[in-house]
Amino acid sequence: MAANTIAKVFPPKGDLVLEQYKAKHKDSITDPNGFWEKAAYEHLDWFEPFEEVLEGSFEHGDVRWFSGGQLNLSYNALDRQVRSEKANEIALVWEGDEPDDIRKLSYADLLRKVCQISNALTATGVKKGDVVTIYMPMIPELAMTMLACCRIGAIHSVVFAGFSAEALGQRISAAKSKFLITADIGKRGGKSIPLKKIVNDALTKGDCDEVCQHVFVWERFHKGSESEPTFEMGPKDIRMDPLVAVQRPYCPPARMDAEDSLFILYTSGSTGMPKGLLHSTGGYALYAKMTTQITFDLHPGDLFACVADCGWITGHTYVVYGPLLNGSTTFMFESTPVYPDEGRYWDMVQRHKITQFYTAPTAIRLLMRYGDLAPQKYDLSSLKVLGTVGEPINPEAWRWYYEVVGKSQCSIVDTYWQTETGGHVITNLPGVTPMKPGSCTLPFYGIDTVVLDPHTGKELTEPDDSGNFEGVMAIKQPWPGMARTCLGDHERYMTVYLKPYPGYYFTGDTVSRDSEGYHFIIGRMDDVINVSGHRIGTAEVESALVAHPAVAQAAVVGQPHDIKGQAICAFCMLTVGYEESPELVKELRMSVRTEIGAFCTPDLIVVTPSLPMTRSGKIMRRILRKIVCGETDSLGDTSTLADPSIVQTLIDKVTSLK
Ligand code: PRX
Repeated sequence: MAANTIAKVFPPKGDLVLEQYKAKHKDSITDPNGFWEKAAYEHLDWFEPFEEVLEGSFEHGDVRWFSGGQLNLSYNALDRQVRSEKANEIALVWEGDEPDDIRKLSYADLLRKVCQISNALTATGVKKGDVVTIYMPMIPELAMTMLACCRIGAIHSVVFAGFSAEALGQRISAAKSKFLITADIGKRGGKSIPLKKIVNDALTKGDCDEVCQHVFVWERFHKGSESEPTFEMGPKDIRMDPLVAVQRPYCPPARMDAEDSLFILYTSGSTGMPKGLLHSTGGYALYAKMTTQITFDLHPGDLFACVADCGWITGHTYVVYGPLLNGSTTFMFESTPVYPDEGRYWDMVQRHKITQFYTAPTAIRLLMRYGDLAPQKYDLSSLKVLGTVGEPINPEAWRWYYEVVGKSQCSIVDTYWQTETGGHVITNLPGVTPMKPGSCTLPFYGIDTVVLDPHTGKELTEPDDSGNFEGVMAIKQPWPGMARTCLGDHERYMTVYLKPYPGYYFTGDTVSRDSEGYHFIIGRMDDVINVSGHRIGTAEVESALVAHPAVAQAAVVGQPHDIKGQAICAFCMLTVGYEESPELVKELRMSVRTEIGAFCTPDLIVVTPSLPMTRSGKIMRRILRKIVCGETDSLGDTSTLADPSIVQTLIDKVTSLK
């Protein structure tokens, strides 16, 4: 083991356990059918047993798991717990924007509520297979609405409530979603977000008004069914609270085929519109259940807190589905890490006695900047496992998390995964895998990771001079949690994930694997920027910029950022007749906020007379990346540029703006 990178294992269980993991992992990839068949029956209740474990292949893109089996995710997450004497145990603890705004729901409460919502949706015409768009704040009703969709077999498409009307409209339209569920307002950091107004605006975009037939509105501060609505009622609007209140609190769960669609979630790629990745019922449920239990070493009595938003995959798998499938108590959080002050997370850990805490490196780096005082002020002794996700964690932030937050007594689980993978694919296991700061360590059970040569597509067999294998991060065989397709565009799914390296699932990331098999994720190979753990396609930001009449052409690249990991830097060539001014730059920033959302706002906008293009008209983003990173002495070959002199102009411009 590389001496300077190892942290101690906690709780220490000895080498034997690591060896056991290795043996079990080996079995899981040499006999995947045996491994997953046993797991599926052990972890889930099935209405009907499955006929086959795994069929199909990466080659043909027709992977399917547990064919013929029937089950329901909401049944497994709720009814199963109620029936196993957990009816009165707390399923969900919610803390709102204000620290004293707390709600607790038992498994029996949650089941009744979810059934009422299911009945309300069915009564309004929602049927199995319909896409229901959910645009909601982080309130318990969001989790309940997701579970209600699963109960009746509707496919939810949760759109992060930080997306703009334009982005929401695009997603409603792309999924041909007839139903939309929202709330009157959201709250974050003491501010109100007018969600219903944004929804009204979204419905004016494209064909949304035609596509979307019903808008269900939860009322944040609604008390009782008789009072006035808290928003202006439109012809499509349905008040959710009074509708739900009159429903029967039981709804039989739909019998779903294991391969029936469960949900879609839009995610950014290199080109074009975000893709609606589709997950299916049986495989996702199993993978969410197992990864939550094993990666976080869940035990009865634990209070599991993932502070991600349900608008992203982390919220789907580790706020809602994984913890509830395990019969644990999940914690749902509406606010930000710094509201009302930078001690918010640690105050919550102390007050609720949180045992597992899961966040992103960007939040850790932000809190680290405030110093050690805040975490030291609170009793954090309930913590056992600290998780990180979304981007590579730098060793400094890792050490701060481990030493200052975890008091060197907790395992840090660095979980590498993606919207596409459904759950963790590479992660250490608490007390089992020795940790190395900055490494997501070893693959989860059933995951056969390989490092490919980017040019030949062959598995690397020889290490580089430093003893590592550096190349394309790929996975060699299917696993149950993988997304099955892109909604309405299977060709795109094949092109992006399965065709680039035939026979493998292509993650889009590069990795360095050391001699002990530890993975260090380097970053994306494609034109995707990771800002605060949010995956942002450069093409989306570029099209938001050119939507402004002043921009003739735009090129967007990522630049390193101390807290956010990466920040967006946009190069804009103006249309003839427009001049650069501080007002215009402000307008361009605004344009990105309205087209996509505030979280995609560029940090730097560089107005330029032209862009570095090849003679065939291709923008050389590599050069722009080097310029914003200050690596101007290693620009590489610029001779293919149509006008090489633009490089110096850009260097001067960026230097003057920094
Ligand atoms: O680049 C990797 C990075 O986030 C990408 C997936 O983004 P998304 O689908 O939005 O899901 C984020 C939450 C699962 C990956 O391709 N990434 C995610 N986790 C890690 C990571 N990079 C390094 N280390 C991680 N632990």
